[in-house]
Amino acid sequence: MTIMFRAFSNRIGCRFASSSSQSGNRFRLGFGTGIALVSFGFFGGYAWSSFTIAQNVPLFLSPAGSKTSLKDLCSPEYLNPTFALDKFNNRLSQIVEKQDMSFLQSDIDDHSFNNYTLHKPQDNERPHVIVYPRDTEHVSRIMKLCYEFGVPVIPFAGGTSIEGQFVSTRNINSDKQCECEQQDTVTVVLDFNKYMNKVLKINADDLDCVVQPAVVAKDLNDEYLDKLGLLFGPDGAPGCEIGGQIGTSCSGTNAFRYGTMKENVVNMTVVMADGTIIKTRQRPKKSSNGYNLTGLFIGSEGTLGVVTEATVKLHVKPVYETISIVSFQELNQATKMVQLLTKKGILGINAIELLDANMMKAINFSGQTSRSWKEQPTLLFKLGSHNKRILNELIDDIKGLSKDTNCTSCEFADTPNQQEELWSARKSIFWSSIDYGRHLFGPDVKIWSTDIAVPVSHLSTVIDDSLKDVTDAGLYGTIVGHVGDGNFHCLVMYNKENEQKALKVIDNMSIRAIAYEGTCSGEHGIGTSKRKFLTMELGDDTISVMRRIKMALDPARILNPDKLFKIDPADKKD
Ligand SMILES: Cc1cc2nc3c(=O)[nH]c(=O)nc-3n(C[C@H](O)[C@H](O)[C@H](O)COP(=O)(O)OP(=O)(O)OC[C@H]3O[C@@H](n4cnc5c(N)ncnc54)[C@H](O)[C@@H]3O)c2cc1C
Ligand SMILES: *[C@@H]1O[C@H](CO)[C@@H](O)[C@H](O)[C@H]1NC(C)=O
Ligand SMILES: *[C@@H]1O[C@H](CO)[C@@H](O)[C@H](O)[C@H]1NC(C)=O
Ligand SMILES: *[C@@H]1O[C@H](CO)[C@@H](O)[C@H](O)[C@H]1NC(C)=O
Ligand SMILES: *[C@@H]1O[C@H](CO)[C@@H](O)[C@H](O)[C@H]1NC(C)=O
Ligand SMILES: *[C@@H]1O[C@H](CO)[C@@H](O)[C@H](O)[C@H]1NC(C)=O
Ligand SMILES: *[C@@H]1O[C@H](CO)[C@@H](O)[C@H](O)[C@H]1NC(C)=O
Repeated sequence: MTIMFRAFSNRIGCRFASSSSQSGNRFRLGFGTGIALVSFGFFGGYAWSSFTIAQNVPLFLSPAGSKTSLKDLCSPEYLNPTFALDKFNNRLSQIVEKQDMSFLQSDIDDHSFNNYTLHKPQDNERPHVIVYPRDTEHVSRIMKLCYEFGVPVIPFAGGTSIEGQFVSTRNINSDKQCECEQQDTVTVVLDFNKYMNKVLKINADDLDCVVQPAVVAKDLNDEYLDKLGLLFGPDGAPGCEIGGQIGTSCSGTNAFRYGTMKENVVNMTVVMADGTIIKTRQRPKKSSNGYNLTGLFIGSEGTLGVVTEATVKLHVKPVYETISIVSFQELNQATKMVQLLTKKGILGINAIELLDANMMKAINFSGQTSRSWKEQPTLLFKLGSHNKRILNELIDDIKGLSKDTNCTSCEFADTPNQQEELWSARKSIFWSSIDYGRHLFGPDVKIWSTDIAVPVSHLSTVIDDSLKDVTDAGLYGTIVGHVGDGNFHCLVMYNKENEQKALKVIDNMSIRAIAYEGTCSGEHGIGTSKRKFLTMELGDDTISVMRRIKMALDPARILNPDKLFKIDPADKKD
């Protein structure tokens, strides 16, 4: 007697999938003795089968062509808690000690969203359990179990991502949102913060270091590298960690000089969906061999593998540094200066941040900094070198270029205190914007940060048009841009009454970025909330090739389901 663990599948494709797998005879669940054969029945166009994972694998792996469209798939079939949750919990407790997992509601909530994101999960989008793995081997054993049972797994590092990257979309009662075959299941969150948070090795001579996924980037710099005169470049939110930075290909203010996460990982150790442990490559700076798997995992948002160790690149900290602040009448003069600078090939600029007139107004208004500011489009430069003379020449370059572009003022910090003071404008953007938003819209003001990138030559047009939308909608927006990379955030302030308008304006920015040969996300990533824009940006075929890779590496679709693009034809969300 075959127990029915799975939901009915009523798609033609699923029928083929079922029949083609008969020879495979691979079973996900080993319980219920004698379940050695899959039973199939076709009832009035409905195909049903028991709970083998194999039943839907072959179709995904061997359809003709090079891509997997959503319509080629049937819904993933995950563990059905009604029948198998106890069994799963038992097996899990054999692998994970009691104190290394949590079912506490507060822990569950803390791993479901953060207080920054607008994209709060629905009440039922919660993980079943938080597991704190000890090491790579341990992660592998947990993955093997989850693979066997068809349990979704979400890796969790700093929890600061804001586009819904770690939402437990697959859950008990998830069918409340869709009258489809999307199945109820449970989700495991793998949190590395308890054990896998160590700096394992610093190879100062090679400028790299080996870290575990829960190492906080800021701590790596402050506690380990600073004293060696070294630094790790990518910087996201203050609490972001290497694992999550790999997940979203984090960048931040330093990316102009040191690159994004994509340029800063040498090799890594990854646990695949079925528990296989791989190392992506060895440690030399270059290698011409084979596919670049390191690059494949970066930006994959936990959908392809669990990173358990990474060797990251380090850079030499400049010995001499200064900050410069340059103001302009017009935004396009500021972007012009950035273009000129890039074209001249001037080296030694470690960051170029743009704050628009609205932002400067908010900063000046809030008084969070110790001085008053010109309320004009402003560029902040971080300049650095190992050599004082070179730095002085760099300063001359900036002076010259800012004059050529008709700046209204150009200042340099002479002392560390002055540096701190000038950079304080950049540091206070978030709270200053909120302060000003409260002033305009009352105490319940909300704020949402967009994140788009376009070629630098389109930057001022895209910023101007975006701000016009914001103003036309009766809202207030402030701009902070990592302009060297053509990447900027618009912080849109609004309240409950004009929320819908705000959402429209915000969506419009992604669409505009794409229209100007840009991207809907420069650094925050896609998660669940920007999937439609990623499809708009790259096209269905490109997404279908990505989906083919996903299906090849994670045929059971257990790794962070539903992020980046859809993997389930029954998924009705945007
Ligand atoms: C106030 C604020 C400011 C920010 N500023 C910036 C900025 O300047 N630049 C920038 O780039 N981003 C910024 N961000 C976004 C965020 O900090 C980054 O996306 C960061 O990289 C997320 O890291 P995390 O450790 O918090 O990741 P998490 O949120 O924990 O995870 C992010 C993704 O990575 C996956 N993941 C986590 N660990 C692993 C692992 N070990 N293996 C595989 N996948 C894994 C997760 O499943 C998830 O999909 C900001 C966010 C906030 C709230
Ligand atoms: C959100 O903020 C509240 C109140 O400050 C805090 O108690 C809670 O832990 C925060 N939640 C998360 C997920 O960070
Ligand atoms: C990278 O490769 C080197 C050399 O094989 C190895 O020592 C190191 O552990 C690897 N790092 C990771 C994260 O796999
Ligand atoms: C592979 O990808 C990584 C990450 O994007 C990148 O740092 C590296 O330069 C690429 N090439 C090689 C040969 O590793
Ligand atoms: C900036 O704020 C200060 C203090 O509120 C104010 O005196 C000054 O006029 C403002 N600057 C501009 C350009 O508005
Ligand atoms: C600066 O002013 C000069 C002279 O008026 C003008 O030719 C030039 O186009 C201006 N450049 C910018 C970027 O404003
Ligand atoms: C969206 O952008 C288009 C094209 O730039 C513009 O016409 C429209 O008014 C914008 N809508 C909103 C709500 O901002």
